[in-house]
Amino acid sequence: MSGTKITITNNKLNIPNNPIIPYIEGDGIGADITLAAKIVLDEAVKKAYKGEKKIEWLEVLAGEKAYAQSGEWLPEATLNALREYVVGLKGPLTTPIGGGIRSLNVTIRQKLDLYACVRPVRYFKGVSSPLKEPEKTNLIIFRENTEDVYAGIEWASGTSEVKQVTDFLVNTMGAKIPKDSGIGIKPISPAGSKNLVRKAIQHAIAQKKPSVTIVHKGNIMKFTEGAFKEWGYELAREEFSKETITEDEVNTKYDGKVPAGKILINDRIADSMFQQILLRPEQYSVLATPNLNGDYLSDASAAQVGGLGLAPGANIGDYLAVFEATHGSAPKYANKNMANPGSLILSGVMMLEYLGWQEAADSIVKALEKTIGQKTVTYDLARQMDGAVKLGTKEFAVAITENI
Ligand code: NAI
Repeated sequence: MSGTKITITNNKLNIPNNPIIPYIEGDGIGADITLAAKIVLDEAVKKAYKGEKKIEWLEVLAGEKAYAQSGEWLPEATLNALREYVVGLKGPLTTPIGGGIRSLNVTIRQKLDLYACVRPVRYFKGVSSPLKEPEKTNLIIFRENTEDVYAGIEWASGTSEVKQVTDFLVNTMGAKIPKDSGIGIKPISPAGSKNLVRKAIQHAIAQKKPSVTIVHKGNIMKFTEGAFKEWGYELAREEFSKETITEDEVNTKYDGKVPAGKILINDRIADSMFQQILLRPEQYSVLATPNLNGDYLSDASAAQVGGLGLAPGANIGDYLAVFEATHGSAPKYANKNMANPGSLILSGVMMLEYLGWQEAADSIVKALEKTIGQKTVTYDLARQMDGAVKLGTKEFAVAITENI
C-alpha cells in the first residue's frame, strides 16, 4: 500500500504529505455519504496543495459489513488500525439489536479512550432554522465521552444484581430507594473531567475563542456534576493561569470587562444553558460538558441551526482521533443516494484541520456555503427552501467540488 503513517514524537503529530487514513464506511446511508465525503475531501486537498498532498484511504471494517465477513461487529483489526494510523474517518454504525452490544460507536470511543466528543455548531446561510437569527449561534461543544452515563453501570429491576446493590445502598449507606427500582450509577472522575476541560481550553487558545463555559448540574448532583465544575476551574488555574481568567475575577477585579488576550472561564447550570443557547447564543463559544448534558446540548444546538444533516463531530483522545457524523445510519434512506453527506463532509473538514491542512478545510466550507447558496442541495434541505434543486448524495458532493 502506498502512503505513510502519521506518527507521534515529542507530544506532536507528524503528518506526512500522503497520510494513510483508515475509514469505516458505516451502515445504512454510510456507503453513500462516505463516498461523497471522500470525493469532496480528495478534491479539496488536491486543489489546495496542487497535488503535493494526498490522503491514502484504507478501508477498515465495522458494523454490518464486518459481521457479514467475519461474524464480528467490531473486529480487533479495525481497532488496531485506528490506533496504528492515529487519525480515522467513520460513517454511522447501526447499533446491533441484542447480542449484548450496547453501541459500536460507544465501544470504539471507550476502547480507544477517545475521551472528548467535539461538536462544532454553526449556521449555513440559506438553511431553514427555527431561530430568527440563527447566524448568532457559533458554538463548539466538548462533551466528555467515557464517563457519566456512558460508563454504563446499570442493573435492571427485579434482578439479583440490583437486589445486592439496593441492599448495600439501603442497609449500609442509609439510602431510601423505591421498591423494584432499576439502578444506574454515574462516575465522574477528576482525571476524566480535567482531560476534557484541558482539550476545550487548548482549542479556545488555538482558535482564539473568547470563552470556555463549563456546563453542569452541580446544584443537584454535587459530587459528580458539581465536582466536574470544580475540577474544570482547578485545571484552568493549574495549567492555564496565564491564558485564562474566571468570571468571578472579571467581576470583582476588572469591572465586568475581560482583559485583552484572556479567555473567560465561566460555568452555567445545564437547564439554564438550554435557555442561553436559544436566547443569547452569541455570548457562548466553547462549552465543556459531562457526557449526558453534552449529548442533549449537541443535538439541541444542531437543531437550532437547521438539523443533523450539517452537524459534524469528532472523538478525540490524547492523540488518536476519529471523525464522524453526528447522526446515525438512517436505514430508511440506505443505498438510495438521498442522504445529506454534509455532516460527514464537515467532519472531514475537522479532520483536515486536525492534520493542519487548514487551506483545504477552509476551501470545503466556502464551497459548501456556495452550494447551499445556489440552492442545489439534498432532499432534506431542498424541502425547506423555495426554488431549490434537489440533488442526490453523490451529485451534491460533485456540486461542492465544482465550487472548490
Ligand atoms: P438517525 O440519525 O440515523 O436518523 C434519524 C432521522 O434523521 C432519519 O430517519 C432521517 O430522517 C434523518 N437523517 C439522519 N441523517 C441524515 C442525513 N445524513 N441526511 C438526511 N437525513 C438524515 O437516527 P436513528 O434512526 O435514531 O438511528 C439509526 C441507527 O443509527 C441506530 O441503530 C442508532 O443506534 C445508530 N446511530 C449511530 C450513530 C453513530 O454512528 N455515531 C449516532 C446515532 C445513531
